[in-house]
Amino acid sequence: MEDTQLNSTQRLVFAVNGERFELDNIDPSTTLLQFLRSHTRFKGVKLGCGEGGCGACNVLLSKFDTNLKQVEDYKISSCLTLLCSINGCSVTTTEGLGNIKDGFHSIHQRFAGFHASQCGFCTPGMCMSLFSALVNSEKTDRPEPALGFSKLTVSEAEKSISGNLCRCTGYRPIADVCKSFAADVDIEDLGLNSFWKNDAKLNKLPFYDSKQIITYPEFLKNEYKSTAVLNNHQNNKGWYSPVSIEELTSLVEVNSVDNEVMVKLVAGNTGISYYKETNQYDKYIDLRFIPELSRIKKTDSHIEIGATVPISKLILALKEKRFDGDLVFKKIASHLEKIGTETVRNVASVGGNLVMAQRKNFPSDIATVFLAVKSKVTILTGVKRETFTLEEFLEKPALDSRSVLLSVFVPCLKPTKNGYPEKSNTKILFQTYRASLRPLGNALAYLNAAFLAEISVCDSGVNINSIRLAFGSFGDKRAITASSVENYLVGKILSVDLMYEAVKLLRVVVTSENVTSHPAYRSSLAVGFLFDFLWPFVEVDFPGVRSRLTSDHSETTTLLSSAKQVIESSDEHYPVGQPIVKTGAAIQASGEAIFVDDMPSPLNCLHGAFIYSTKPLARVTGIKLKSEKDVNSVITFQDIPKGGDNIGAKTLFGPEPLFSDELTYCTGQRIAFAVAETQKSADVAADRAIVDYDIKDLEPPILTVDQAVLKSSFFEVPSFVYPSQVGDFSKGMAESDHQIHSAEIKLPSQYYFYMETQTALAVPDEDNCMVVYSSIQVPEYAQSVIARCLNVPEHNVRVITRRVGGGFGGKAIKAMPVATACALAAYKLHRPVRTYVNRKTDMIMAGGRHPMKINYTIGFKSNGKITALHLDILINAGMSPDVSPMLPWNMMCALKKYNFGALSFDFKVCKTNHSSKSAMRAPGEVQGSFIAEAVIEHVASYLCLDPGFVREINFHTFDSLRLFYGVGAGEPLEFTLPTIWEKLMKSSNFNHRVDLVNDFNKNNTWRKKGISRIPILHEVSLRPTPGKVSILRDGSVVVEVGGIELGQGLWTKVKQMTAYCLSAVQCGGTEGLLDKVRVVQADTLSLVQGGFTAGSTTSEASCEAVRLCCNVLVERLVALKEKLNEQMGSVNWELLIMQANMQSVNLSASSFFVPEFTAMRYINYGAAVSEVEVNLLTGETKILQTDIIYDCGQSLNPAVDMGQIEGAFVQGIGFFMLEEYLTNSDGMVTVDGTWTYKIPTIDTIPKQLNVQILNSGHHKKRVLSSKASGEPPLLLAASVHCATRAAIKEARNQLRCWKGLDGGSDTMFQLDVPATMPVVKTLCGLDNVEFYLQSLLCSS
Ligand SMILES: Cc1cc2nc3c(=O)[nH]c(=O)nc-3n(C[C@H](O)[C@H](O)[C@H](O)COP(=O)(O)OP(=O)(O)OC[C@H]3O[C@@H](n4cnc5c(N)ncnc54)[C@H](O)[C@@H]3O)c2cc1C
Ligand code: FES
Ligand code: FES
Repeated sequence: MEDTQLNSTQRLVFAVNGERFELDNIDPSTTLLQFLRSHTRFKGVKLGCGEGGCGACNVLLSKFDTNLKQVEDYKISSCLTLLCSINGCSVTTTEGLGNIKDGFHSIHQRFAGFHASQCGFCTPGMCMSLFSALVNSEKTDRPEPALGFSKLTVSEAEKSISGNLCRCTGYRPIADVCKSFAADVDIEDLGLNSFWKNDAKLNKLPFYDSKQIITYPEFLKNEYKSTAVLNNHQNNKGWYSPVSIEELTSLVEVNSVDNEVMVKLVAGNTGISYYKETNQYDKYIDLRFIPELSRIKKTDSHIEIGATVPISKLILALKEKRFDGDLVFKKIASHLEKIGTETVRNVASVGGNLVMAQRKNFPSDIATVFLAVKSKVTILTGVKRETFTLEEFLEKPALDSRSVLLSVFVPCLKPTKNGYPEKSNTKILFQTYRASLRPLGNALAYLNAAFLAEISVCDSGVNINSIRLAFGSFGDKRAITASSVENYLVGKILSVDLMYEAVKLLRVVVTSENVTSHPAYRSSLAVGFLFDFLWPFVEVDFPGVRSRLTSDHSETTTLLSSAKQVIESSDEHYPVGQPIVKTGAAIQASGEAIFVDDMPSPLNCLHGAFIYSTKPLARVTGIKLKSEKDVNSVITFQDIPKGGDNIGAKTLFGPEPLFSDELTYCTGQRIAFAVAETQKSADVAADRAIVDYDIKDLEPPILTVDQAVLKSSFFEVPSFVYPSQVGDFSKGMAESDHQIHSAEIKLPSQYYFYMETQTALAVPDEDNCMVVYSSIQVPEYAQSVIARCLNVPEHNVRVITRRVGGGFGGKAIKAMPVATACALAAYKLHRPVRTYVNRKTDMIMAGGRHPMKINYTIGFKSNGKITALHLDILINAGMSPDVSPMLPWNMMCALKKYNFGALSFDFKVCKTNHSSKSAMRAPGEVQGSFIAEAVIEHVASYLCLDPGFVREINFHTFDSLRLFYGVGAGEPLEFTLPTIWEKLMKSSNFNHRVDLVNDFNKNNTWRKKGISRIPILHEVSLRPTPGKVSILRDGSVVVEVGGIELGQGLWTKVKQMTAYCLSAVQCGGTEGLLDKVRVVQADTLSLVQGGFTAGSTTSEASCEAVRLCCNVLVERLVALKEKLNEQMGSVNWELLIMQANMQSVNLSASSFFVPEFTAMRYINYGAAVSEVEVNLLTGETKILQTDIIYDCGQSLNPAVDMGQIEGAFVQGIGFFMLEEYLTNSDGMVTVDGTWTYKIPTIDTIPKQLNVQILNSGHHKKRVLSSKASGEPPLLLAASVHCATRAAIKEARNQLRCWKGLDGGSDTMFQLDVPATMPVVKTLCGLDNVEFYLQSLLCSS
């Protein structure tokens, strides 16, 4: 920003996709996202988290620099951006790139063509992240790329979406879209897509024209010359943009006099993401137009960074050529690149970050890194300027609202060549570290550190002349320097002994309170970092030493290696079997696909937000609102109309109340629904509501499964869903050579993390009717629940579901109360009521996957053959039955994958005071499959055998499969697992890689690899499903099915099936039928008995229902066609339909597909090999490669099935490796947003993911021989867990040697789920560095 005089304007002017907006009287707390979604037609900006952590709301912001006459473009999170801060700017959303009418942008087309959009909720944000990278790459001085490509590199292209979350695809296809634009892409590296057939690849991609989109419209350029900074205020309230320190001082001074006025200093406004402020401020003071605060000044001795300088700008400045020799600046820049996401860094200021660190001990990376290099800060208080060292600043009492951080001084270290000053034998060392769940950022560090040292070489070794060690982000402590360790090291010669004493000292310095998670792990990280920093100089001479924990090549390395997707498409039932692009993918990308919250609000619409219980078991004695602003009503169970039931959800096993009545039975239980004029007001009211509880005379709540057992608090499992035991357990035990008794495993919960949270809109209709638009997997059930709640017949309730932004089971039972609460409020208030549940509330109420405790006893032979297995399984079901009684059945369906000889079990489905747990993708199956692997690994460890060998010796024969699965086993030919197993061994080069892994482990001390191959068997069942096919006058076809489109490609498969079946009419024009078919939204009054969309089989069942309809229509049409052929020669489709209409042929057919009992159940097979590398200093696990073969029978659509396999597998990685859905001792969910709940991102998936879909042949009883793909592949992610265990085993054996425990091997350990960094490091040895050093000391 130049020091030019800026005018002031009262009106906010900006552009969105080239359209001009001018506003006055703006509520300064309004975010850009709120404005776009509620005041414009651009609904492509999605709300996924509201805290900058998911990327769904990303847009491109463009600014015009009037001095340089240049447009600056960068992506931002619109959910954090205050509307007032975009004066004079232009916003581009995905709609601005293209649309269905004017033509899609090549980004949209490629997202569709690479099969990179499933539910589509993340897609607009992904498109904008990529677009931003493309726009900025054009501004570089790189050589012009080939026509149709950009100047992006492959590495940059992949990283452009590293801050975006997708819960459906598993990222690989999205990465391919991004790479397809890169100048240096090898076209052969791009994965499965619809653009090239056979070898004709070049020039087949939709053309990219870098000049196509003007991001900053001309009219705004002209206007911006005359407009200036925004001062939109009245009566001492509103938005202020001071342009000088003096103006700022006087504004701040006025406020210190008038204490009534709530003032907020704002720079990038990203701080609200972490500190969820619900304060209403009167005055917002935008600091960004004060020249002194917004510039970077560089001198030879230091760099002065204005407080409002965004982190991205600082990174660019530090990377400038003039600082090339400065290793410190370069390393700081690369550390800062791991802060948040690029969207955050583009606006997040350096000063804002330090103020957050100073005031509330925010776990800042900047504070730590700047502390290491002895930075200083200047503070303005009133008119007084003071300069402090960063240490002093951080230690001061929290800055008050009158004090302003002006700038930061970072000293330059004398330029050195490769770190060596020209004429001396000294060397400057500087290194920064951060251990976090996501290597590329978007995850706070468990610990960060930065070390600066000067060393010199002398005859006796390497001397430490000076050293500074800064650590931060460990719990609730501010960043510190470890001065006691520094003092100890200075002036000493580096040696093993010195290192040993230093790390012992360091452990005492870097300790965090027990309130922090993993305190011991964090201390061990400090030790690992210091060891990594200094050890190379103990071990070898300087030159060429390499750090183990940091990579200086991160900008240039690509994240993913080229992966293989092997499919076989079949023409037999054309177009069924073809990898057709998912229906609606392009409109999902362009933001035109309408999700429930995208529907415009009807007139007078109100918004609701849930007030939930914070007590596990209590009487609710009152609800008070703190903020009545705009609140219309608070709906409770007392508002249920006479004769209606307090019901929010129902399953076969019983109902769940809509609201707690007298008692609340768990934290997170719905108590009331605050209804207000806006969603924001409703959310604030609900958040601030005070609920009075009373627990007098109540029993203590049941919070663990053990307590449930003590109190016999169980849900009944009806006998028809209770699985059968196999064989005689006592006999099996008697046959065994060895036994393991009562081993225990605990498995945790998992949150769905659908990108679209729960949402519904209820609109009252005439005659006591209600239309409810719901994002739900079971509209029919919601209809029935709403009718019972309102005491109206079911025909009065119409539930409509068009698409769901990710479900994964979480929008089945759990979506019903959301729809019902809206309906009840609308019924009472006679106004439309909608809700879009915020992420925090969603996470607190969701329930998620079932946690469980398992005890097992195994009998086995000395060769590893298991003869008997008994399991006692306690499932935590929560307060209501939901679908929990199904869990035993589901678990056994997947657990029986091995021939355990005799299998017996006892299940208890425990009723506890937790939120009711519900189905989540592969509910029970994923746990069952994992338990089977845990048993195998346990036996292998016990016998010191290779787990792979024990797996194979326990494989089923077809006879044993039949014994364990009954009719579900099908015919011998359908048992494809042995073939898959062998094929995978060859295709993954398994044996050779095992040798390589062993070699690697011999040659590496601090990194160990593991490799594992596991099989899966997953039994599924088909359910009855309706369908309806109607042919319209013009020959187009409309289809309704019971199944809901959740992103799983159901509509696409249904379309293919309709086209295939109707083409049996065999007349001209049927080849183009696919384009004539439209599948329409589910409507419970149009198609009844829709049932559940769950269990992986709804697509095939819907296809079969459609086939039955088509058969009827074909029969009618063929009769007519033959008649017409006789009369007029051949007829084409259009003519045939026209004649059918004229001759009153019924062109609509309905069906209800009821699967045959013997064909209802069948088993899915697959196998995976995963190879991982574990870092023994940090506990980080990198997934190097996964190879999957999965049997789809005859895939109905291999592209869709590939997406399901990859997406499910990555969701499984989340469960096994990353996602911690934690609760406190009251059962309250404590992990309630993107800051703490970490689903996989592009940097945590396998670096290479090869998937082969096996079209195994003809399965007579299946729908066109197809098999399910939605859930079973999730189970394969256990291969990553097993591989990690193998790597840890190596680490533990090494540790045993260091501890002087000769012989034997340390294999009897359990690796928890999820195997997060702290879990892995703990097993590798929190003190492994000390033991290593000790072992060296002993040996010397
Ligand atoms: C998703 C996400 C991930 C993140 N990850 C990381 C991370 O890994 N590591 C890390 O270090 N940080 C991380 N951050 C924090 C981020 O760096 C800070 O939010 C940001 O730098 C704050 O700057 P801002 O300009 O947005 O501040 P604002 O939000 O505008 O202000 C923050 C606070 O500081 C006050 N303030 C701002 N400027 C001044 C000033 N000059 N003088 C006095 N008071 C002032 C404001 O009044 C407010 O109270 C992350 C943030 C987000 C949103
Ligand atoms: S909604 Fe803005 S980043 Fe998630
Ligand atoms: S397609 Fe990415 S979240 Fe569904």
